[in-house]
Amino acid sequence: MSDPVPAMADRADACAERVLAADSVVLASHIDADGLTSGAIAATALERAGIPFETTFEKQLDADAIERIAATDHEVALFTDFGSGQLDEILPHHRAGAFDAVVADHHQPATAEEGAEPPEIEHHLNPLLFGIDGASELSGAGATYVLARAMEREGVDNRDLAALAVVGAVGDMQDTDGGLLGANEGIVAEGVDAGAIEEVTDISLYGRQTRPLPKLLEYASELRIPGISGDEEGAIRFLSELDIDLKVDGDWRRWVDLSFEERQTVASALMQHAISRGVPPERVNGVTTTTYTLSAEEVGTELRDVSEFSTVLNATARYERADVGLAVCLGYRGEALEEARTLLRTHRRNLSEGLEWVKTEGVEQADNLQWFDAGTRIRETIVGIIAGMALGAEGVRRDQPIVAFAQENDEELKVSARGSGFLVRDGLDLSVVMSEAAAAVGGGGGGHDVAAGATIPREKRDAFVEEADRIVGDQVD
Ligand code: C5P
Ligand code: C5P
Ligand code: ZN
Repeated sequence: MSDPVPAMADRADACAERVLAADSVVLASHIDADGLTSGAIAATALERAGIPFETTFEKQLDADAIERIAATDHEVALFTDFGSGQLDEILPHHRAGAFDAVVADHHQPATAEEGAEPPEIEHHLNPLLFGIDGASELSGAGATYVLARAMEREGVDNRDLAALAVVGAVGDMQDTDGGLLGANEGIVAEGVDAGAIEEVTDISLYGRQTRPLPKLLEYASELRIPGISGDEEGAIRFLSELDIDLKVDGDWRRWVDLSFEERQTVASALMQHAISRGVPPERVNGVTTTTYTLSAEEVGTELRDVSEFSTVLNATARYERADVGLAVCLGYRGEALEEARTLLRTHRRNLSEGLEWVKTEGVEQADNLQWFDAGTRIRETIVGIIAGMALGAEGVRRDQPIVAFAQENDEELKVSARGSGFLVRDGLDLSVVMSEAAAAVGGGGGGHDVAAGATIPREKRDAFVEEADRIVGDQVD
């Protein structure tokens, strides 16, 4: 057996031993695409190892959630895609014997105690402990995949689970630099070997499997090609000038319906169009990227392409329907998939309405960051996704991080912050900004350098902005 991520192999073996020795396990995971795929990978590995378990999903792993998990009374609590930032709260239960904690995560280990080192536990599998970047090189699903591979015994081959690990990584936007990098590449290679994943260079537009061609181009906000992006007529005009059939039996063809040659025709015309409109070379090169498709899924469905798959998952778990997303990850189709598709329609509508709202209202400008408060206009579970989308929108600066607020409940505000790879290279670390600014106003937060979040008392918004603004200024000067 080879190791997908050699640097983590010994720790993975120790964690696997602990899990495999348990009479039963409570598996707890996070409510987003990466959390669901983490949960599905762990659940499948436990199932294949013959270990009884129950699964639970949490929005935040706070003290109450850990209390509930402890109350399920299983020998081992396996935390996936969270846990590293909450070792403070996990440790007392672990020490008191409520459970033995095993954590497979990629978040920044943190402590609420100012200036102190985060606590440590024996069974803690996190890329950051081994010099691997948890924001860009390995996701929660990736860490859980490493564990699942270490849990293989006689006759078990968990490499097919690489497909879910890649969905998780892409769900956490780890492919934004032209494809998956670093430790993630080892997982892709195993998935390709196992026949679960296909890796090809293709056009970098969201919706290659399901969107009608004009929509594919019109919605390509990430490329921002003048005369095409955000311009339905422009997109149709551009396509009509190419020598390809655009419709079959009256229906628009999709990207997947095009032949290899037709795809090349569109891609190179798109690049030429971009160059002629003065789009800078790095964005023109961004027209193509490494893409990942799942061999087992039907062509032309939302699950075939990992990035569309991850949107389906966010459409379930962020709307309190993690059960539906988990079922889809575990291979259930039929009713589960129908339900997921219904949820997806709502999610898409919410994203587009939310983004429109931000664009219309605009953002507030501080010295080193920009922010908006959506109140109850945007659901707090998706305000981070919308903040990320807003960073690419007109009227929003790309050279400063964005901080978004939404009402969590009567007492608390949810905060989501998003930056860019460029800002991170300049020193930005939003996990520090969120945890320190939140701590300063009596809240809590954490995450990754490029994307992080917090929960704070409602009346502390302006004090929080001031504090966050100051910390960002110290980081990038
Ligand atoms: O909790 P978790 O780690 O799964 O969430 C990470 C979040 O960070 C996701 O919402 C993901 O979209 C976001 N992210 C981002 N840009 C990146 C990396 C991650 O917006 N470059
Ligand atoms: O919720 P959102 O997508 O903005 O979260 C971004 C990142 O910040 C995620 O990795 C999430 O786990 C983390 N986060 C956190 N503590 C919070 C809120 C978010 O660690 N209170
Ligand atoms: Zn994650």
